[in-house]
Amino acid sequence: MDFHGRDSAWSLLIGQTIALLYLIVVVPALLITFHGQICNAALPESPTTNCNSSSNYKKGSTFESNLNRVFDSLLQGTKQSGFNISVYGESPDKVYGRLQCREDLTVDQCYTCSQYAMTTIQQYCGNAVGGSIWPFHCFLRYESYDFIGQLDTDLGSIYAEDFRGDTGIFIPTDFHSSAQNLLKKLSGEAAPKTTRSALGTALDSFSQTIYGLAQCTRDLSTDDCTQCLSYSINKIFKSYPGYAGVQYWSQSCIVRYEIYPFFNSTAL
Ligand SMILES: *[C@@H]1O[C@H](CO)[C@@H](O)[C@H](O)[C@H]1NC(C)=O
Ligand SMILES: *[C@@H]1O[C@H](CO)[C@@H](O)[C@H](O)[C@H]1NC(C)=O
Ligand SMILES: *[C@@H]1O[C@H](CO)[C@@H](O)[C@H](O)[C@H]1NC(C)=O
Repeated sequence: MDFHGRDSAWSLLIGQTIALLYLIVVVPALLITFHGQICNAALPESPTTNCNSSSNYKKGSTFESNLNRVFDSLLQGTKQSGFNISVYGESPDKVYGRLQCREDLTVDQCYTCSQYAMTTIQQYCGNAVGGSIWPFHCFLRYESYDFIGQLDTDLGSIYAEDFRGDTGIFIPTDFHSSAQNLLKKLSGEAAPKTTRSALGTALDSFSQTIYGLAQCTRDLSTDDCTQCLSYSINKIFKSYPGYAGVQYWSQSCIVRYEIYPFFNSTAL
């Protein structure tokens, strides 16, 4: 290629390209980073907990020591694969526990989230015979009955972020279907995998990146996982059409999409 005869045309073109790139890439990226932080900070400081307070165990009881043993075992077991199930004791003091981290977490991050989940659930649920907690990066549940492998689409919590009307944030009118397509695609990938999880990105109609997560608890079958994810996806797009970001956490699965990176893509 001969660049010399076209020096001025090229430098003009390059200048325009850089200016355009700055406007369409750098400025929105800065705004999105800014908003991402604000929205994360705006999330409730205490993660959602769901306590089964139908009855309480007593301090120093067999149930309590079984529960502590289950927690210890989950904490150690989760180090290997980011997921563990632990069942301990004899009825009526038998305890069932399950712990799972988001798949992009490092071993240390998973451990930190797990410890946090255990301390916090005991603060919030006290001596309840069952409880669940969703601290955004991991998910812990314990019960006095066998819930392992059971599909449960009961809502844990839902967060929606609406940036429409904010200056600098542009949500195309067909954003809804771009986000929905991404979550459907991720669900299809997640359900048959042993991790029951998929994280990924897609572009909306204006080539802006959408970040998504579809994840079931790993004890769920592929069919139940598919069912949980599609139930949740239908629910969020019905309740929050066109929102810039939504997270839906149930007992069996999580779906989430955002216009800012909320997961560690180098870990995948
Ligand atoms: C709460 O725990 C009891 C067992 O103590 C169980 O029978 C009941 O189904 C649980 N309720 C919920 C909502 O999980
Ligand atoms: C849980 O962790 C223990 C080790 O602490 C391991 O033996 C067990 O297989 C793990 N269970 C699952 C379901 O990952
Ligand atoms: C992202 O994941 C990689 C690989 O696991 C890890 O080395 C890095 O520390 C993680 N970064 C963050 C910000 O968590």
